[in-house]
Amino acid sequence: MPKRIIFDTDPGIDDACAILLALASPEVSVEGLSVVHGNCSLEQATTNALSVLELANAARIPVVKGCELPLVQPSLLAPETHGDTGLGYAKLPSPRTGHIAQHAIDFLIEKILASPGEITLLAIGPLTNVALAIRQEPRIVQALKEIIIMGGALRYEGNTTALAEFNTYVDPHAAHIVYHAGIPVTLVPLDVTYQCVLTQDDVRRLQEVESPITKFVADATRFYMEFHDEFQKIDGCVINDPLALALAFAPELCTYRDLPVDVDISGGICMGKTVADFYNYGKKPANMRVALDVRARDFIDLFVERIQSLAPSPKL
Ligand code: RIB
Ligand code: CA
Repeated sequence: MPKRIIFDTDPGIDDACAILLALASPEVSVEGLSVVHGNCSLEQATTNALSVLELANAARIPVVKGCELPLVQPSLLAPETHGDTGLGYAKLPSPRTGHIAQHAIDFLIEKILASPGEITLLAIGPLTNVALAIRQEPRIVQALKEIIIMGGALRYEGNTTALAEFNTYVDPHAAHIVYHAGIPVTLVPLDVTYQCVLTQDDVRRLQEVESPITKFVADATRFYMEFHDEFQKIDGCVINDPLALALAFAPELCTYRDLPVDVDISGGICMGKTVADFYNYGKKPANMRVALDVRARDFIDLFVERIQSLAPSPKL
């Protein structure tokens, strides 16, 4: 039986790649995309979610709009990283399908409570929707099978401030709620995602299969590579969200430790910094499983092969 997943996502270039990887992986069944502010505005991210699903002939999957602002922090988007459209240089037709009217928070609660113990939530954007769903309906804590969170930086520098990772920094208060709710959490931090660099050679390999989907990934990641080169002198681009998704069906790609993890919401220079107590000085129980090492090239090869395998959409 495929693992039933729902994305909470801010598409976003690497979010789009994660959604395509999920659609190319029979081990998972995508049951919905709940959209949140982050890489781009909620409106733009919702359009992107619909367009990416249509690109992959998956418009049957429901898309719901969530929150457009963090709980407390001011809005922070990432046009320098994902481009003004949120999808880099990729150009997709305006979506023919629409999002469903239900708010993402209500959608998440309804789907999770309807299938206790069966839904895996892939949280690959700021955690605003997830935090409010927990506050609105605490029963989802027991009903969720697990939540895999792309976020945080433990023994690695930040990608948004010197210390903080984007999803966590954008809404640290939401992260604090989710980290301490009692849900089985797997955290996929920059410590592992920054080992997963998609290079130009990998994209050339990907494009040995000509299709609208491989063209999309090439165009979207070309912008992403320019950002990584200019801001971080990385030769390629870090595909954070696809790694989080891959761990839903190939957990053996990483090694893990159960650790007590917190997030700084004190508002100073460390705002949004995720802190893992590796030696448990605080004598607290572990509240999550953290991915600490990864077979990066095995993952990149998996990503390339799966995206190549996605059936191209019919000529529109
Ligand atoms: O820090 C990387 C994360 O922030 C990724 O999920 C990326 O898409 C952005 O949302
Ligand atoms: Ca994301």
